[in-house]
Amino acid sequence: MSFEAIGIVGTGQMATGIAEVTAKAGIKTIIRGRTSEKALASIETIVKSLSRAVEKGRATEEDKEATLANLSATDHIGDLHQVDLVIEAVAEELPLKLDFFKELDDTCSDDTILSTTTSSLSVTQLAISTRRPTKVVGLHFFNPAPVMKLVEVVPTLVTDGDVVESMRKLCEQVGKVPVVAKDRAGFIVNALLFPYLNQAVRMYEAGYASKEDIDAAMQNGCGHPMGPLALLDLVGNDVSLEIIESLYSEFRDPFLAPAPLLKQMVAAGLLGRKTGRGFFDYSK
Ligand code: 3HC
Repeated sequence: MSFEAIGIVGTGQMATGIAEVTAKAGIKTIIRGRTSEKALASIETIVKSLSRAVEKGRATEEDKEATLANLSATDHIGDLHQVDLVIEAVAEELPLKLDFFKELDDTCSDDTILSTTTSSLSVTQLAISTRRPTKVVGLHFFNPAPVMKLVEVVPTLVTDGDVVESMRKLCEQVGKVPVVAKDRAGFIVNALLFPYLNQAVRMYEAGYASKEDIDAAMQNGCGHPMGPLALLDLVGNDVSLEIIESLYSEFRDPFLAPAPLLKQMVAAGLLGRKTGRGFFDYSK
């Protein structure tokens, strides 16, 4: 199966990053936002990212124009009726995602594959809410999506083998590295990564070391590009808390219980880079 047109539902950092990736790979990409202003703002973010790439000599002005020509914005889900694939990347709220899956199922052609970028909800639950569960699959990208190579392809027990194969090929077509993971909380990466990030918060909370030293230790001792607390700020403490809670509720291991400080930071609106303050200050 070849992918000529893709619909992205959502305008957050993940949705915007994925749209940049697919448009750059020459695929017509329609971004559907709650309002057309939000969808256009998402394209503006991509324009800035492409302009930075041109300034740094990683792309030409022609590359930038070619990518932009593949992008369009809408607030109307009906505009996605003929795309080959929809990538749903709205907030991690099950009722919201279920509403979108119902609307997409009613709107899109029978051949359209419906995918979700969820990192903390069950792909299976979304699949069985549609009349096409064999054509529903998870596509889990990583932050920042234009940079990180990996995509976890997450079939449910009923996803068609052909759909999984075509998702693998699509990932390769857009320059990503696919791996296939079962529909279990955390898939592969988050199941390994988030217990570690949670433990870093506990360590900081218990006063083992300063936040700067915890991060410097993992960067310089293990070669990680970012320390755990800076990574939490990049991902967003709200998103991270949801992922940790999903691991805890699936495995019931006390080690996976969210660190109290992480919960307090989310309650206080200290979500990380997106709000200007998390473990570190980004206001400047
Ligand atoms: N969008 C587009 N490009 C970006 C970017 C963004 N948000 N952030 C950085 N880049 C690009 C830069 O333009 C630069 O490209 P260049 O070298 O060709 O000029 C390159 O990435 C490196 O950026 P910088 O030099 O500014 O910064 P760093 O070298 O510190 O790299 C980083 C930044 C790529 C974010 C790196 O620190 C890193 O890999 N961090 C770890 C990220 C990670 O672990 N992500 C996974 C999180 S878990 C997840 O996403 C799961 C989900 O379910 C929550």
